[in-house]
Amino acid sequence: MKIGIPKEIKNNENRVALTPAGAAELVKNRHEVFVQKNAGIGSGFSDGDYVAAGATILETIESVYNVSGMIIKVKEPIEIEYGLIKKDQIIYTYFHFASSEVLTQAMIKSNAICLAYETVELEDKSLPLLIPMSEVAGRMSVQEGAKYLEKTFGGRGVLLGGVPGVYPAKVLVIGGGIVGTEAAKMAAGLGADVTIMDVSLKRLRYLNDIMPANVKTMMSNEFNIREMVPSHDLIIGAVLIPGAKAPSLVTRDMLATMNPGTVIVDVAVDQGGCIETTHPTTHDNPTFLIENVIHYCVANMPGAVPRTSTIALTNATLPYAVKIANEGWLNACRKDNALKKGLNIVNGNVVYKGVADAFNLKYLNIDTFL
Ligand SMILES: NC(=O)c1ccc[n+]([C@@H]2O[C@H](COP(=O)([O-])OP(=O)(O)OC[C@H]3O[C@@H](n4cnc5c(N)ncnc54)[C@H](O)[C@@H]3O)[C@@H](O)[C@H]2O)c1
Repeated sequence: MKIGIPKEIKNNENRVALTPAGAAELVKNRHEVFVQKNAGIGSGFSDGDYVAAGATILETIESVYNVSGMIIKVKEPIEIEYGLIKKDQIIYTYFHFASSEVLTQAMIKSNAICLAYETVELEDKSLPLLIPMSEVAGRMSVQEGAKYLEKTFGGRGVLLGGVPGVYPAKVLVIGGGIVGTEAAKMAAGLGADVTIMDVSLKRLRYLNDIMPANVKTMMSNEFNIREMVPSHDLIIGAVLIPGAKAPSLVTRDMLATMNPGTVIVDVAVDQGGCIETTHPTTHDNPTFLIENVIHYCVANMPGAVPRTSTIALTNATLPYAVKIANEGWLNACRKDNALKKGLNIVNGNVVYKGVADAFNLKYLNIDTFL
């Protein structure tokens, strides 16, 4: 199969959908890989790296779309790409259709095969192509939190690990899923005194088993959160209720009880945030201050570390890309139920119920195709 890797053109998107190692793997499987000039540059991969891996560099985005049976991307296509997508072309990327009717209609019109990373789902309901970005954001939340706790960034001037003779900082992680677990591990590794909260007792039992001694677990409820926030230096919001806006767990009145220079990193901001005073910010201007509490609420945290994010994402997406390329989308989806769940729009038909429901569109069961 001919596989195209366009350069990402969304503002500030430095990731790329395939590493040179991924290109080499596809070439080894007897496929041809076409990479747009400078597509990997934001992630530290040169055109020469791709050529050495067996790929061909094409000058323009048009030529990449034109030649390819499958396009692999990171972000959803934007308007100037709509017209480049052809009938029967496989587009394998993050789409997040339910948040854009314009994109949904454009992909219906294109008659392409749209495989969305975010809905590829394993039997245990986990989302293997979303997990890597949660891992990045979770680990990064502590790095960012530590930075903003420094006095020059407006923080309390507290070192996460303390030093001999001085207590370490106190870190409260609300939500013990992927983001929360990675955050707690990082904060613990730096020597902080960490508490992780969740509403699932089963999850708390698991965390209690695997975490080091400087991580304690606590049931998440309003009473406990209210009691904990005044004494904590860094608070990380890592809650998710699938398909719903995150609940406001730290309320505005709680801010007044915190020490000036306390830092909140609300990773859940992309789902509305679990801190009442959250609003989305960007890497250019990541923080704002309310009641002397620093809020860091960047909605695409992995964007700050594109090299790590690119490698983490492609580690997860590549095995599926190889299956699609080797077997064609139809056979690959017949054989792999997780991948089948990634099909959202096929030849003008919406085959993912959530997307059809979001815009009152006709839903076609994907099994009609398989
Ligand atoms: N800002 C970013 O760049 C970025 C990047 C990746 C993920 N995210 C977001 O981070 C959030 C967490 O993602 P995840 O992958 O860890 O999800 P996850 O499903 O793995 O974990 C969510 C956890 O929240 C817990 N929870 C639900 N209600 C709770 C409550 N009231 N109190 C405490 N815990 C509660 C759940 O039991 C679960 O363990 C999501 O909103 C996700 O979209 C943001």
